[in-house]
Amino acid sequence: MAAKKDPIPLLTPYKMGEFDLSHRIVLAPLTRGRSYNNVPQPHAAVYYSQRATEGGLLIAEATGVSDTSQGYRDTPGIWTKEQVEAWKPIVDAVHQKGAIFFLQMWHVGRVSTYGFQPNGQSPISSTNKGITPGLDGVDWAPPRRLSIDEIPSIVNDFRVAARNAIEAGFDGVEIHGANGYLIEQFLKNKVNDRTDSYGGSLENRCRFALEIVEAVANEIGSNRVGIRLSPYNRFMESIDSDPDKLGLYMANELNKFDIRYLHVIDSRVYSGAGIEDKVPRKLLPMRKAFKNTFIVASGYNRSKGNLAISKNYADLVAFGRFFLANPDLVRRYEIDAPLNMYDRSTFGTPDPVVGYTDYPFLEEANNE
Ligand SMILES: Cc1cc2nc3c(=O)[nH]c(=O)nc-3n(C[C@H](O)[C@H](O)[C@H](O)COP(=O)(O)O)c2cc1C
Repeated sequence: MAAKKDPIPLLTPYKMGEFDLSHRIVLAPLTRGRSYNNVPQPHAAVYYSQRATEGGLLIAEATGVSDTSQGYRDTPGIWTKEQVEAWKPIVDAVHQKGAIFFLQMWHVGRVSTYGFQPNGQSPISSTNKGITPGLDGVDWAPPRRLSIDEIPSIVNDFRVAARNAIEAGFDGVEIHGANGYLIEQFLKNKVNDRTDSYGGSLENRCRFALEIVEAVANEIGSNRVGIRLSPYNRFMESIDSDPDKLGLYMANELNKFDIRYLHVIDSRVYSGAGIEDKVPRKLLPMRKAFKNTFIVASGYNRSKGNLAISKNYADLVAFGRFFLANPDLVRRYEIDAPLNMYDRSTFGTPDPVVGYTDYPFLEEANNE
């Protein structure tokens, strides 16, 4: 009799509230720059359904909540009727494969230029301080600090966008509180220099994020809401002097809203990790504090993902670049097949096929 194989941790089922996941491999949100004029396109239905599996969780790319929310070419939105209608067939294609589909909602804040703003106005932020001009080769526009009276309308934009996402058929939304965009511009004390009730103390800096969480959870139900955070990240000059404290405070506060998941970018972003098979320990306090589903991302491969699950460091692992380049990543991890390498040069190019839907699937014909 053949010896019984141990289950592969990433391939074990997991109950995420009402969602029955058949495995732990999540598609991380990935901006692809192929939603012309901010309208999702039919080729996205091909791209996402290629990566969809029965009982798998996909998180769609960062999607703008309003006409001031944009900072990159051809990223999708969810604030107009046309955008909502355009998402519907994409969501349908994913659901036909039996996958669960959450939409990531963002506002870039100061990570923008005049050209992306309505009437060429200044981007909005928590601060008037801009990103260093020329960083990453972009002529960032100096932002305008939101007045305290304007904040409720931005919170409301997230609420309406979440309603629109449900109208488009998504199973839930992920609030983008990571990577230096608007929400993080409030969270982190090297950016937020306000002196009102949205700045200064940790409690004040987290107020904007938590108001958005509350508004969105009240609108669509807390079981349909996740949030992504990156306390350790320094992307777009968004830095906090005490990321341990910030992350833990947020994890505890989020419990009050009983949202479905907390998705955290691990501390090793861009560190070239992927060589040694070690699971980092940085997020353990957040993981222990947060009572619902905990997702980790960044720098994970098959063995690190398996370790993260088996050591109970996370419930789910999101994969970015490997899933981008391997539409059948779940199958490949199941049988430990080699991976396609990603091509960085086509991450954000507008072609509807090249570098997008043309990454090859495994040739399995000979094995069946
Ligand atoms: C092309 C590309 C686009 C990305 N777009 C987003 C995005 O829209 N939202 C987001 O939260 N993170 C985004 N990220 C970060 C990924 O979700 C992920 O955290 C990162 O790639 C690290 O994970 P990995 O090592 O598995 O690739 C992007 C990354 C890449 C490479």
